[in-house]
Amino acid sequence: MAAHASPVKVGTAPRGRVPVSLPDVVRSDYLVFGSPAIGEEEIAEVVATLRSGWIGTGPRVQRFECEFAGYVDSPHAVAVNSCTAALHLALLALGVGPGDEVIVPAMTFAATANVVVHTGARPVFADVDRGTLCLDPEAAARRVTARTRAIMPVHFAGRPCEMDSILALAREHGLAVVEDCAHAIETLYHGRHAGLLGDFGAFSFYVTKNVVTAEGGMVTTHDAAAAQRLKTLGLHGLDADAWMRFSDSGFRHYEVVEPGFKYNMTDLQAALGIHQLARVEQNLGRRQEIWARYDAAFADLPVFLPAAEAPGTRHARHLYTLLLDVDRLRVDRDAVQAALHERNIGTGIHYRAVHLHRYYRETHGWARGDLPNSEWISDRTLSLPLSPKLDDDDVDDVIRAVRSTLTALAA
Ligand SMILES: Cc1ncc(COP(=O)(O)O)c(C=O)c1O
Repeated sequence: MAAHASPVKVGTAPRGRVPVSLPDVVRSDYLVFGSPAIGEEEIAEVVATLRSGWIGTGPRVQRFECEFAGYVDSPHAVAVNSCTAALHLALLALGVGPGDEVIVPAMTFAATANVVVHTGARPVFADVDRGTLCLDPEAAARRVTARTRAIMPVHFAGRPCEMDSILALAREHGLAVVEDCAHAIETLYHGRHAGLLGDFGAFSFYVTKNVVTAEGGMVTTHDAAAAQRLKTLGLHGLDADAWMRFSDSGFRHYEVVEPGFKYNMTDLQAALGIHQLARVEQNLGRRQEIWARYDAAFADLPVFLPAAEAPGTRHARHLYTLLLDVDRLRVDRDAVQAALHERNIGTGIHYRAVHLHRYYRETHGWARGDLPNSEWISDRTLSLPLSPKLDDDDVDDVIRAVRSTLTALAA
């Protein structure tokens, strides 16, 4: 995208404070963070779905489930309408409920913890590693009590957690493992896909994710009975045959066997997912290219770069997250984000540590100081655009804006 010279008025920044004016080069249009790359195949499939007259849960959902299961090498995959729903169903299928505790990293999206609350159990936050941003297995071990039922590792940004240690901890204490794979569709851990290492994997197809269905999710499991239970729980608690009511094989009465939820995916969503999934490897190649350019361009700035890919693993490159070295800057992270916004570069914050949010402070009694690494990251993290939709000029614009902003604001 062509850039043009323009003085930047940073005084109007929405958050944070930038004490200096930053004359600079600004993109002519706003670069939206996490804008998805939607191809003509997706558009044609959505139109064909609309024309087919079958826009609810039907054949395209079934095809997407089969193709996703094939991609991650899972015997079962159940499509739902979000990763949040996927996580919730996984915990319910494990029988997690009131009186139980579930260990959740404090550095994650709120959904990972919220679903624990929805089951009636208590999320117990554990700290993460400052370098990898993933759950620290030793910190998780310190949180185990007689009430602990499960651990929910989050493969942060697409980097797999230290699953050997987490699985060993789970085995030692008889705990279930639900992998939050919202960032980890392409993630491999010693040759195996994320989501198939523990009891359940929960994937997201939200608009910014590496496979997009606008809203959508998937649960993977090795357990056929659990997959069947997930389907029942995700569709009002209707008996197994109820899914047939979406077919043309004739009317059948259904039975409610337990009070379930309305979590099913539609064929309109699956129409997007089928073609997004077909391009996921090609898109990963583009994400890797952009990642390498960012690493090279930012190495001398007052930042901590993302940790290198761990040996024997594949990183899904979902988020390129800089940790700003605020001790070497004159401003805080929010002010840097505001300055980039003024330069027409959209960024993301992944995340403010969950335990610092009002609900978890006021209702669950967490406070600043409880999880130092998550808080340290929370104050410094800034994610840059990484969509495969970015062309080389877009990447140049991001690099130029980040370099000039951080150079101007260096202490
Ligand atoms: C780590 C993590 N877990 C869970 C979710 C929830 O995903 P969804 O929006 O599909 O419910 C997200 C979404 O942003 C996420 O990033």
